[in-house]
Amino acid sequence: MSKPIIADKKPAILELEPGTYYWCSCGSSQKQPFCDGSHQGTDFTPQKIELTKTQKVALCNCKYTQNTPLCDGSHAQI
Ligand code: FES
Repeated sequence: MSKPIIADKKPAILELEPGTYYWCSCGSSQKQPFCDGSHQGTDFTPQKIELTKTQKVALCNCKYTQNTPLCDGSHAQI
């Protein structure tokens, strides 16, 4: 498995409306923390996020979290 690109060493803290989102797992997207299709041709696939209510989330930007798509503090170790 390839290593992801570190998009940022801090999470994206966002308040998201209900809906479907795709979290970028590869780190190449120009629309972090969301997928823009840049993973095509790699081992990576985006992770679908479905929210039924408005929710504040801390989405991983370093891409090394063990609790995808949420930040688990891994950015402090890389
Ligand atoms: Fe990174 Fe799609 S651009 S997973």
